[in-house]
Amino acid sequence: MQTPSGHSVESSSAKRLVVLASGGGSNLAALLAAQQEASYGARVVGVVTDRPTAGALDLARDAGVASAVVAMNDFDDRAGWNDGILEAVSVFQPDYLILAGFMRILAPSVVRKFEGRMMNTHPALLPSFPGAHPVRDTLAHGVKVTGCTVHLVDDGVDTGPIIAQTAVPVLDGDDEPTLTERIKVAERALLVETVGRIAREGLYVAGRKASIGR
Ligand code: GRF
Repeated sequence: MQTPSGHSVESSSAKRLVVLASGGGSNLAALLAAQQEASYGARVVGVVTDRPTAGALDLARDAGVASAVVAMNDFDDRAGWNDGILEAVSVFQPDYLILAGFMRILAPSVVRKFEGRMMNTHPALLPSFPGAHPVRDTLAHGVKVTGCTVHLVDDGVDTGPIIAQTAVPVLDGDDEPTLTERIKVAERALLVETVGRIAREGLYVAGRKASIGR
């Protein structure tokens, strides 16, 4: 909903999203754009990053969204950092946590707190090419079709139940930057569509099968 001055009025029924990001934040930007439509059903109430220089922080500030930096260096150990993340996220009382280019592995204790409500976007067709360099690995393997995946987060690395996927062709002459960019276009669209549908229709999980709506 827009007021005459152009500011969006948040629907009280909109699901509360907290986005965790380490990088530029183009996926966050896509969610922030989508929530301008009141019918979207979800709104970003907080952004949490592990990197003080993350572009996601600028996007949050420009959108008037609260943010927090929880940097590994500020803690004695990983357990302390995980507690810091949990605390920073919990302040925002999220319905859903969205990992959008968050380049850290969260402890099982954090994952369990948000079981069934924490999603990650990954630039490959899981279960192929999990991990930190999926596009590089995709090109090295020589596959002809790749894509992007939105999945639930579990204790493994990119192993949780798959919610939605989009295929993206690998073209002759692709290198890591060109293929990354083609995937990211599809990824943003998939994330926006998937998160919106989950917010409006609910997410149901039975074993490895995740489905949106009943
Ligand atoms: C996305 O492709 C995400 O899947 C990957 O890192 C990228 C982050 O992009 N893990 P951005 O910061 O949202 O632009």
